[in-house]
Amino acid sequence: MANIVKPTGSPAAGEETGNPTAEALRQAMRRVASSVAVVTTRRDGVDHGMTVTAFSSVSLDPPMVLVVINTAASLHDPLTHGDGFCLNVLDAAQQDIAEAFARRGAGHSRFAAGNWFRPQIDGQPAPALVLEGAQAWAQCAVDMVVTAGTHSIITGRVLAASAAGAGLPLLYLDGAFGRPA
Ligand SMILES: Cc1cc2nc3c(=O)[nH]c(=O)nc-3n(C[C@H](O)[C@H](O)[C@H](O)COP(=O)(O)O)c2cc1C
Repeated sequence: MANIVKPTGSPAAGEETGNPTAEALRQAMRRVASSVAVVTTRRDGVDHGMTVTAFSSVSLDPPMVLVVINTAASLHDPLTHGDGFCLNVLDAAQQDIAEAFARRGAGHSRFAAGNWFRPQIDGQPAPALVLEGAQAWAQCAVDMVVTAGTHSIITGRVLAASAAGAGLPLLYLDGAFGRPA
């Protein structure tokens, strides 16, 4: 029989759900080491970006990825109604960028962290900004938006992707940033 994780001690910092199973899940997910990305998008000529760990590759044929975004986040509506998005997977040296793009209410000023450029795809400017020195990036067109509780699961059809030749990914584990040993 599987062990059932019950919350122990005081609840973790952050939003309170009042639901013991949600708190147990929060504690359980702190044990998962994740890569960290900044999702960028553009709507009505304005760039937006936010730090995420909830992302994944989905399919190679066709090439697809997904991101999971809180419906209350300022990125949510520009992303679901914008021109497309870019998943920028951060290098271990880019922790300051992860922190800047997770700062609540910081809006466009987040882009003061890091150097951003817009590549050409098939002779056209890409929909969303790409981070110089990222471990990897995937430029996408929004495919599906599926509501899941407080979040939306957004799948993207990959238009172009690139990987760095070197470096190490930034990791997030137990509420802290780190790098592979
Ligand atoms: C390491 C880390 C990972 C995060 N991952 C996600 C995520 O996958 N999805 C999400 O909706 N928010 C995630 N967040 C929270 C958002 O980055 C943060 O709440 C958001 O920037 C608040 O933005 P706003 O003020 O623009 O609404 C994460 C935050 C951190 C620090």
